[in-house]
Amino acid sequence: MISPLYWDDGALYMLDQRLLPADEVWLKMESAEDVARAIRDMVIRGAPAIGLAAAYGMALALPERVVEPDGEDEVRGGLDAREQENMNHLFEAARRLEGARPTAANLSWAVRRQLEFASDIAAEGGDLHKALLERAQQMHREDVEANRAIGGLGAGLLRDGDRVLTHCNAGALATGGHGTALGVFRSAFESGLNIAVYATETRPYLQGARLTAWELVRDGIPVRLIVDSAAAFLMARGEIDAVITGADRIAANGDVANKIGTYPLALAAREHGIPFYVAAPMSTLDLELPEGRGIEIEVRSGEEITHFRGSRMVPEMAEAVNHAFDITPHEIVSAIITEKGIARPPFAESLTHLFEGGAEDA
Ligand code: MRU
Repeated sequence: MISPLYWDDGALYMLDQRLLPADEVWLKMESAEDVARAIRDMVIRGAPAIGLAAAYGMALALPERVVEPDGEDEVRGGLDAREQENMNHLFEAARRLEGARPTAANLSWAVRRQLEFASDIAAEGGDLHKALLERAQQMHREDVEANRAIGGLGAGLLRDGDRVLTHCNAGALATGGHGTALGVFRSAFESGLNIAVYATETRPYLQGARLTAWELVRDGIPVRLIVDSAAAFLMARGEIDAVITGADRIAANGDVANKIGTYPLALAAREHGIPFYVAAPMSTLDLELPEGRGIEIEVRSGEEITHFRGSRMVPEMAEAVNHAFDITPHEIVSAIITEKGIARPPFAESLTHLFEGGAEDA
């Protein structure tokens, strides 16, 4: 199974997604600052994956504690194990990690979980580095389990022979493994359903062309790449049976922030009577946010649009505006597939029901 990150011998390793599919290079992260930079620079991307990276990053904010031969614990580097100082390091790391990218709910969710956990462990005088590392590894395992559950439930929405459209990369690379939208395709394929995936190239960063196509080809799942602007045309010709995307943040009313270009896909799907599904773990839900208009949308450098592989493609005086995400209003979302069940409209009720541990099909 592909996973974009793993822990080994005191360091976090990340697959450099900027170089895929040409090169598979693993980068070593030895500090929370390394991890924050990697998230900002898109070495790792995708909402659940950056949340997991940040969870490991919190462990990297503190040195390993070494046990001295006399049995007394001492923090490596000669410092005493002063809990308050450790917590200050963690608050600083949390600020940097959370600030690396603003839109994905999973990033702040993971950082805050680690902070809360750390204050409990600090109060007990436990080994904070070890505890945070074990917690990050547990979150990693839980994310893969959640994706497999999402995959199984989502596969139940598909039929043999379906042609499904996805946008960006909501795959193993964007999560701890298996993927959300691609997890549904993987589970459907594993269960014997004969499906074909249409992948948008996803301008300007080409997550669809570079990453989704790479993952699906590796798994032997048929994939057809299209330019972003071709989707409505294919729907009008009857060549798409369902659309499934991931999500970066979902508000309490079911409004969905996801990769720029998701909203027009949902509009076109509605126009052509095609279901538009969102696959996301519960960690992407932000139930404190009543609606999508409160979601902060990341604006990235215009160079991602004006330049291709370092060369400027547009006239010098032309400005580029580069919103990385858009918001799809809940009215045009058919269902939200989570690991706890499938939420259907009205989402304000069904999402809360799932959050509170309600039935599988809400
Ligand atoms: O800018 P990115 O590549 O981090 O954007 C990723 C997406 O928009 C994904 O669709 C989303 O994070 C869901 S990933 C399971």
